[in-house]
Amino acid sequence: MKISISIIKADIGGLPGHAWVHPKILEYASDRLAGEVRRGSIIDYFVFNVGDDMSLLMTHDKGLNSPAIHEAAWNIFRDATESIAKKVKLYGAGQDLLKDSFSGNIRGMGPQIAEMEFEERGSEPVIVVAADKTEPGAFNLPFYKMFADPFNTAGLVIDPAMAEGFLFEVIDVVDARVYLLKAPEDIYRLLGLIGTPGRYIVRRVYRKRDLMQGAVASVERLNLIAGKYVGKDDPVAIIRAQHGLPAVGEVLEAFSYPHLVEGWMRGSHVGPLTPSKFVQFIPDKKIALGPKMTRFDGPPKVGALGFQLHDGYLEGPVDLFDDPAFDYSRQTAAAITDYIRRMGPIMPHRLPPDEMEYTTLSQVLKEVSSMPLDDYEKDREGALKALMARTGSTG
Ligand code: F6R
Ligand code: MG
Ligand code: MG
Repeated sequence: MKISISIIKADIGGLPGHAWVHPKILEYASDRLAGEVRRGSIIDYFVFNVGDDMSLLMTHDKGLNSPAIHEAAWNIFRDATESIAKKVKLYGAGQDLLKDSFSGNIRGMGPQIAEMEFEERGSEPVIVVAADKTEPGAFNLPFYKMFADPFNTAGLVIDPAMAEGFLFEVIDVVDARVYLLKAPEDIYRLLGLIGTPGRYIVRRVYRKRDLMQGAVASVERLNLIAGKYVGKDDPVAIIRAQHGLPAVGEVLEAFSYPHLVEGWMRGSHVGPLTPSKFVQFIPDKKIALGPKMTRFDGPPKVGALGFQLHDGYLEGPVDLFDDPAFDYSRQTAAAITDYIRRMGPIMPHRLPPDEMEYTTLSQVLKEVSSMPLDDYEKDREGALKALMARTGSTG
């Protein structure tokens, strides 16, 4: 039986600021998706948040880019914005809903989306990951480790089903191009691209032997859609595990090292992607309340939920970073956080100028005036005196 699994997520308002999602919004979405199950438009669902982003995970038989599935998600985000987020004045109500009306596909409208369609195997472990205060390329390194690094994934060495390696689909989100690169053959070129995670993003990974799909990530870039700073594009991904794909533990191992990613405060800082636990599960409602973004609006965090699929039903979830073995990663991330925060507004903690173009910094810097260096050198004393005589701070 062919099953589709879609995860669509959006920030439609934070509690408080950009820290968390209001539990009422999660409940509202869960009730609406229960209605979709009753109507037969989806098979099963789960609703959760990481930071200020709500994710709607849905299973169905409608394939990829189904207008019905996309519209159901869009309507839930829109209605929850109108009936709750705006009413109780959540911060940034409707933030990620960049378009007014739905026109057949949610891509390019603001929410992040990752979808996969496959024949359900005899047993089908699926891991869903969602990150906040970062961008889709944040998964480049973990995906590389999972599917191409034998020091992470023992199966690449031990399991004959994985011995031929994997095929990476990399999207250039600036030039709208796609690259297909094989691992292990092309790993140096692959790393040459995905080492620039703001532009080259691993979107899909396939097992080379039979083109079985192992992973898919969202690649929407809000700034490129909106043409201005609208926050980072907190990503989601779906990963299939076991039986000739990376084991659950090999998938998770790739997140044990809290690597530095772009995002965090004002989408303008580098910080460690911290594997984080969910704070509460409400199984009857199919809801999980995720980690909060508090220190300096972060640091960037990733949550992972594990399911077993059966005929499209989602058995679970299990909070996969809820293991003391990840405590050391979290402590390391906290130490990195403390270390890097001391750099304040100085690069490389703050992002480089090309990434800052989309932020409000450019408006601030427009206010700062300058003069030609030669003129200044000719009459430094005059320039200094003129500055002191003027009121205002930037001359
Ligand atoms: C990062 C993020 C927050 C905000 C910050 C300022 O993605 O959403 O760090 O950028 O809280 O928000 P405003 O400008 O809305 O006060
Ligand atoms: Mg927000
Ligand atoms: Mg967010």
